[in-house]
Amino acid sequence: MRPETVRTSSPRRRGSRTGTGRKGSYGPPMTQKQKLLVTGATGTVGRQVVAELLARGHAVRALTRDPAAADLPARVEVVRGDLTEPDSLVPALEGVTGLHLITFAGALFAPLETGPRILERARAAGVRRITVLHGGGPTPLEDAVRAADGVDWTVLMPVEFMANALEWAEGIVASDEVREPFVSRLSAMVHEGDIGAVAAVALTEEGHGGQEYVVTGPEALTVGDKVEAIAAARGRPVSLVELTEEEAVAQWRAAGQPEEVIGFLLEVYGNTPEAGRTVLDTVEKVTGRPARTFAQWAREHAAAFTATGSV
Ligand SMILES: NC(=O)c1ccc[n+]([C@@H]2O[C@H](COP(=O)([O-])OP(=O)(O)OC[C@H]3O[C@@H](n4cnc5c(N)ncnc54)[C@H](OP(=O)(O)O)[C@@H]3O)[C@@H](O)[C@H]2O)c1
Repeated sequence: MRPETVRTSSPRRRGSRTGTGRKGSYGPPMTQKQKLLVTGATGTVGRQVVAELLARGHAVRALTRDPAAADLPARVEVVRGDLTEPDSLVPALEGVTGLHLITFAGALFAPLETGPRILERARAAGVRRITVLHGGGPTPLEDAVRAADGVDWTVLMPVEFMANALEWAEGIVASDEVREPFVSRLSAMVHEGDIGAVAAVALTEEGHGGQEYVVTGPEALTVGDKVEAIAAARGRPVSLVELTEEEAVAQWRAAGQPEEVIGFLLEVYGNTPEAGRTVLDTVEKVTGRPARTFAQWAREHAAAFTATGSV
């Protein structure tokens, strides 16, 4: 679990958060097949952005620091680049109409300081649409995106990812149990595929420029609700053991979590912000399809919660 999993601070807002927005005035028409560059393409969300763009028939170029380890579909053009070195993006940006950006660099999610330089290169290359995956607070990159002239930008503000539940896989496989504090907390967690779908639409269709999209799942669930969905998906019961705060802190320390992460988890689990537990219809409005449920996510990932050979 990372400190950024639930937003605690309200980002600065310039665009409207819902609705169809102003007509995109910079990008190509939606009927045209386009070439897009996806950064963070090997990550939880980026892989889904790639998949959703491919599913819509577009050409995808994926940026990674390590192409040999990227493990992306064969149709994807994988290119090496590092967001901390904006010049490394110049070849990757050639010929693309749209760009999906992350706001951080490296394993510890430090905010990228190179945002303005990345934006300069993107605009020079003729990029007309940009989506940016919001990271929980202001960053130089997101500020540069919002300030960019001649670009239709869309900020994606997902709540907690359903994929965070994969952190329970080890305990479920080992002992059929989930050990968590604050088990009645609610989360409107979102399927990563739906974040990808919203990004793909915003990158390739008109009408999403200047928008901030808070992206949620279709229901607010307790920890118990999620554990039940996983048990149903794997066809084997899972016990939920509620921890006291002290027990949770001891468990997180034993797992090597830094103290600042532990403090963050206590805060957001004990006092989840309203935005993190409020269901919105953004996915359906933007993509035309209902948001995917946690039950569906659990069925897709049932194997991760099942000891090899036990089904
Ligand atoms: N987890 C949640 O519940 C949640 C909720 C809301 C928002 N968020 C936000 O989502 C973001 C994390 O997204 P994620 O989980 O999809 O990430 P992730 O799975 O951890 O993937 C990290 C990606 O970043 C790329 N990357 C890192 N440093 C790079 C650099 N210097 N140059 C180029 N690429 C670099 C990696 O690419 P390579 O290693 O291939 O180079 C990889 O594709 C954070 O901003 C977080 O605040 C998370």
